[in-house]
Amino acid sequence: MSGSVDGHAEGEGRVYQASGDQHITEHHHHTDNDPSWHSPDSVRRPTVGRVPVVLRDRAEVMSRVREIVTTDDTDRTFGNRVFVLHGMGGCGKTAVAHAAFHIATTENECVGLWVDAGDRASLRSGMLAVAADRGAQEGELLAARSGLRPAADLVWDRLDRSADPWLLVLDNADDPTILRDGSWLRTSPRGTVLVTTRQAAGRWWPGAELQHIGVLPREDAARVLCDLAPTAAPSKRPPKSPTGWGDCPSHSPSRVDSWPTR
Ligand SMILES: Nc1ncnc2c1ncn2[C@@H]1O[C@H](COP(=O)(O)OP(=O)(O)O)[C@@H](O)[C@H]1O
Ligand SMILES: [Mg+2]
Repeated sequence: MSGSVDGHAEGEGRVYQASGDQHITEHHHHTDNDPSWHSPDSVRRPTVGRVPVVLRDRAEVMSRVREIVTTDDTDRTFGNRVFVLHGMGGCGKTAVAHAAFHIATTENECVGLWVDAGDRASLRSGMLAVAADRGAQEGELLAARSGLRPAADLVWDRLDRSADPWLLVLDNADDPTILRDGSWLRTSPRGTVLVTTRQAAGRWWPGAELQHIGVLPREDAARVLCDLAPTAAPSKRPPKSPTGWGDCPSHSPSRVDSWPTR
């Protein structure tokens, strides 16, 4: 026996060497025990920072949204759709998606699924949590997590076989290469995908319906501020000006174009 160790270990693997020439090499796959793996706490609730008290303006986009989440349609137009809300950061894409999620789950018989597509790790873990929600078995999920089974194929197989119709929101998809590289964005007859993104270029969203979310009109932006501080004393508000501060909803409710969000 030479005394040298010539086995090879990867990751946290160890090499055992016996007195003869017996070598045991451990291979470690990344599974649930991997501390870097974070599964979302829920995909059934939108993970949104601040939800608007009332969704101001957006009547046109909300009527389109109503259309795409309506499951009770005699024309059978539900499903097989990707609807992309694009616009600058802070314009209200996530707020519209949140309202769509609310309509889909309370007024229609959709299962609402919400995934943060802001980075590869959260997209991947969120989509696998979607597969789990739609009935994927623990063994299938482990295989997908450890790279032994194509993760996106598992998720979409489960979405395709969902007994309930669904709305899947992919929020913060500002880097569409993440969706493209993993082939995460697909369509299914069982549901509708709603994407929020800053990326407007149509080449990233083949076959999708694009909807621009622009900045709110000044009056509505002012109303949003009033909504956030309904008890603010009028004397503390900025003076009445062309920005519409004098048009707070509490002053003129009949003129407010609004959508309850909860
Ligand atoms: N139409 C609206 N009515 C009321 N509040 C809104 C509206 N649009 C956006 N907001 C609020 O503005 C902030 C930014 O909106 P958000 O949806 O996060 O923007 P984006 O997703 O485009 O970056 C949030 O606090 C949201 O609640
Ligand atoms: Mg957003």
